[in-house]
Amino acid sequence: MKTEILRLLKECEDYLSGQELCTQLGVSRTAVWKVIKQLQGEGYKIEAVRNRGYRLVEGGDVITEAEIKSCMARENRGWRVVCYDETDSTNTRAKYLAEGGAGEGTLVVAETQNAGKGRRGRNWVSPPGTGIWMSLVLRPDIPPSKASMVTLAAALGVSEGVFQATRLSAQIKWPNDIVLNGKKICGILTEMSTELETIQYVVVGIGINVNMKEFPEELSKTATSLCLETGKTYKRAPVISAVADSFWHYYQAFLEAGDLSSLKEEYESRLVNINRRVTVLDPAGAYPGVCRGIDREGELLVEREDGQLHRVLSGEVSVRGICGYV
Ligand code: BTN
Repeated sequence: MKTEILRLLKECEDYLSGQELCTQLGVSRTAVWKVIKQLQGEGYKIEAVRNRGYRLVEGGDVITEAEIKSCMARENRGWRVVCYDETDSTNTRAKYLAEGGAGEGTLVVAETQNAGKGRRGRNWVSPPGTGIWMSLVLRPDIPPSKASMVTLAAALGVSEGVFQATRLSAQIKWPNDIVLNGKKICGILTEMSTELETIQYVVVGIGINVNMKEFPEELSKTATSLCLETGKTYKRAPVISAVADSFWHYYQAFLEAGDLSSLKEEYESRLVNINRRVTVLDPAGAYPGVCRGIDREGELLVEREDGQLHRVLSGEVSVRGICGYV
């Protein structure tokens, strides 16, 4: 009911009468009043005026199940959304829930992580109140060899979701970093559990730097936030919901095709290095080339100096622009 009340208040530009709320939701005035009190306690500024009703004056940067769901596309509102004030890592929580049977479409979000995980065993700085730390439980019926493609679909979901919520055009650095003005605003960590060549579950963890105003020195050359790039602060719940909705759209297209063929064009249109010189950091020896896009498996196509097109497998190597990070 909280989600519905929030959604109705957001949709209504003027006062929404208590009676209208009761009729739409089929509940008593007291029940509505209790929820309004709860919302006010969570930081929403809601005016209550006799004979007129309720008006949402200001939403606040609230990360709760009701707020996230009230921003979500109707078809995804049935998801299970689990929010923590503080946790070790939303990926660890999501895996724990998945082990306990949590279904596809379980979304775990935290205000802060005290053991946030990055790729290659690195830690992920996740201070409170400033970023989005979210993980999604998936149960795709695909062979484990295709799981890395889910990460590319997630990169598209983040790029599009950030655009939908903020109108900022963030690009993708293959395979799954999201960059704005040449610096990283988001990283994605996909983990999976398999049994006898079958996927039990996949957890896609997404970390987005939203309102950070500074970074530790070792990160500040390559990392940034939406706020640092624009000077504005953003409410996080609409971004979380837009990213989840967009990801879901691309994920369904991927499952339907069985590969990335239907997403390739859109992915390439957001690829920061497309047709630019890159260095492929292959453990067997770095080599230069020009990035030409991806294939339907999500491998990066790099044209080498001899004109030959090489396929670069994600997870095996990194790619750098010739001027540094991108
Ligand atoms: C990277 O190294 O680029 C990947 C970073 C992934 C960070 C996110 S934050 C939410 C989720 N929980 C984690 O512990 N990690 C991912």
